[in-house]
Amino acid sequence: MLQNQPTAPAPIESPAKFKDQLPIENTVRVRNLIKKYEMGSNDVQALRGVNFEIQRGEYVSIMGPSGSGKSTLFNMIGGLDKPTEGRVYIDEVDIAQLDAYELAWLRCRKIGYIFQSFNLIPVMTALENVSLPMIFGGMTADDSRDKAVHLLSLVGLGDRVQHKPLELSGGQQQRVAIARSFANDPAIVLADEPTGNLDTHTGLDIINLLKGLNSEQQVTIITATHDTKMLDVSDRIFHMEDGRVDKIEARDEVDLRVGRLDGEEVG
Ligand SMILES: Nc1ncnc2c1ncn2[C@@H]1O[C@H](COP(=O)(O)OP(=O)(O)OP(=O)(O)O)[C@@H](O)[C@H]1O
Ligand SMILES: [Mg+2]
Repeated sequence: MLQNQPTAPAPIESPAKFKDQLPIENTVRVRNLIKKYEMGSNDVQALRGVNFEIQRGEYVSIMGPSGSGKSTLFNMIGGLDKPTEGRVYIDEVDIAQLDAYELAWLRCRKIGYIFQSFNLIPVMTALENVSLPMIFGGMTADDSRDKAVHLLSLVGLGDRVQHKPLELSGGQQQRVAIARSFANDPAIVLADEPTGNLDTHTGLDIINLLKGLNSEQQVTIITATHDTKMLDVSDRIFHMEDGRVDKIEARDEVDLRVGRLDGEEVG
């Protein structure tokens, strides 16, 4: 082995704050969330006071026009960026109070991310991209490879494991990102437009996959979407407008007839 070669980090033990808890109803709770981006003299207020709670095992879709703050909200819930004001609680733990180790554990083990722009590592193959979070999570190279092959097969890419992102179509890259989000068996999946680049048939496969994880393993799914088929499997639909959640509907209150969404801006 080469000197100074980076080695995989030690397994990340679940921190005491998240251990041995009584069953907690709200897996995500946000309070008065405000996010301002400072752009010279021009401040952008992407979130203007967002409040909601999401229960363990819920499937929630967030809808809203382009620029309404969906991806910003995901970054806050996922502990990837800090709110300007307000609080995010995951399993009733205020994530602003986590130390670096606890936050790393949360991002690596607790939450699976499907980014709107995929965020795949360009020099790595599909297999390596999906294996990486498992290596970070302490799994052996052999086990992580086997599981990555399994996950890539689940999303229909069993024959593309050695392709790098630029050797894949947009929809295939999206499916690699979806497989990667499942790597460490997350309790929460944050999926930002996960079917945005997929044809109807593949999109439906992905929705069924997410719904299966949700109903069989009680994984909490939070998606940003405009896909009526996605809304159809959701327990609740949050409507965002200009940095606020201005309406929350239960699935049975939503009229999903074709045409209802035609007038909405797709983001
Ligand atoms: N890093 C940033 N710096 C400055 N402004 C930002 C930044 N990220 C987002 N914004 C602004 O914040 C607002 C919300 O952006 P966001 O990406 O959350 O919208 P979105 O609802 O996800 O839109 P889309 O449907 O197009 O993905 C937009 O006006 C955007 O221009
Ligand atoms: Mg977005």
